[in-house]
Amino acid sequence: MKLQRQGFAAMLPTGRCDIPYVRNLTTAPLAALVPFTSVELMERGGMWMGQNQTSKNFIFYNRRDAVAPNGFILGKPGRGKSVTAKNTILWTLLTDPTAEVIVLDPEREYINVAHEMDGEVVQISGDSHTYINPFDLELVEGEQPLAMKVDAIMSMVEMMAKNLSPMQKTLVDRCVSRIYDRYFATHDQRDIPTLIDFYNMLNQQPEPEGRMLAVTIERYVTGQASLFNHPTNVNTHKRFVVYDIRDCADNMKGLALLILLDQTWNRIVRNRERHVRTWVFIDEMQLLFENDYAISYFDQLWTRSRKYGAIPTGITQNIERIINNEKSRLMLANSDFLVLLGQSASDAAALGEVIKLSERQVAMMRNAGPGEGLLVAGGKIIPFENRIPTDSAIYRMVTTKLDDLIQYSNEDGRADAARRG
Ligand SMILES: Nc1ncnc2c1ncn2[C@@H]1O[C@H](COP(=O)(O)OP(=O)(O)O)[C@@H](O)[C@H]1O
Ligand SMILES: [Mg+2]
Repeated sequence: MKLQRQGFAAMLPTGRCDIPYVRNLTTAPLAALVPFTSVELMERGGMWMGQNQTSKNFIFYNRRDAVAPNGFILGKPGRGKSVTAKNTILWTLLTDPTAEVIVLDPEREYINVAHEMDGEVVQISGDSHTYINPFDLELVEGEQPLAMKVDAIMSMVEMMAKNLSPMQKTLVDRCVSRIYDRYFATHDQRDIPTLIDFYNMLNQQPEPEGRMLAVTIERYVTGQASLFNHPTNVNTHKRFVVYDIRDCADNMKGLALLILLDQTWNRIVRNRERHVRTWVFIDEMQLLFENDYAISYFDQLWTRSRKYGAIPTGITQNIERIINNEKSRLMLANSDFLVLLGQSASDAAALGEVIKLSERQVAMMRNAGPGEGLLVAGGKIIPFENRIPTDSAIYRMVTTKLDDLIQYSNEDGRADAARRG
């Protein structure tokens, strides 16, 4: 009873403590116990994001309910961007039985996960016979069908022809709206135009710039690079699809990424009608940001995705490109989900400025190892660690380190040899 009174009195702001016990706490446990020094994020239905570096508490974040669920995973090469994305994908597939996951994969890093998780890998390259038509367009009640399409095609033509003149831009705009006349009238998929219809339409314009532009893009229509001049023949029914574009020529990857992103948008639109959520992961996103139209297209997709139940995640090492463009910088500042992994000193500082991080947080990103960094989510900034044990089945599924792959294939070889006796 006496001790209770002493304890109560010790809490009063009189600066007096008569309790006959003293207990010392070192800084780390103290920081974990005092609630205002460590920020926690544990949301119901949330996704596992690792452990809080300060308190060691688990982090669960529910991106589905965020105001702006779109996000970025940023970090220098080898710090765990793709691994973080794969973790998110696994979690999504395992906890949300109806959600769809689409990955745009320029480096062939996701096919293991696809094989393990009953996904489908669609290869797009000059040699594959799987085709995606950049002019595919989903018609939706009450929406301007061409609003996003014109930006996508403008960006595509800019990637093909480079430095379009103002006149050529006008012509692109005009031709895009004309080639859809028939499809808009019939709503028949077979009337969806292809690149050659666009090319012919350019040639029919009275202005000589139209014919000049047509010649410039000719090799994409009839030449070596004509892989995008076919009706779509990929019909994926799986809820997990990886578009593998590693075998696309380097100078075609940006184009491929853009066209696939636009294709993904069609899927998002269809999925909304079906009440299905679509998660989209765009790895090596810097390839897409080749011109300002692509960024502007991405921005539209970004802004609309919430309404359509889509959750896009951009993944890149190129912080500068994002920060130097006004639109993408705003996207970064307005995202409710950022995973900031290890960064170079200059990138860490630049991010610190845009996202308003403290000096300590900036230093943390500079020194982070693989799977460590800052999570900016739900209005909080949390230092996290999420290292996957290297002897786990998940690690085997997500690693792309050459040493690991060599070791696994040696092990598989030995196992095969043992089976054969
Ligand atoms: N969270 C993690 N836990 C354990 N190892 C990791 C983790 N993140 C990355 N690594 C290691 O680093 C390698 C490269 O990671 P990756 O995600 O492919 O890097 P990048 O940032 O270039 O996409 C992986 O193959 C793995 O060996
Ligand atoms: Mg990667």
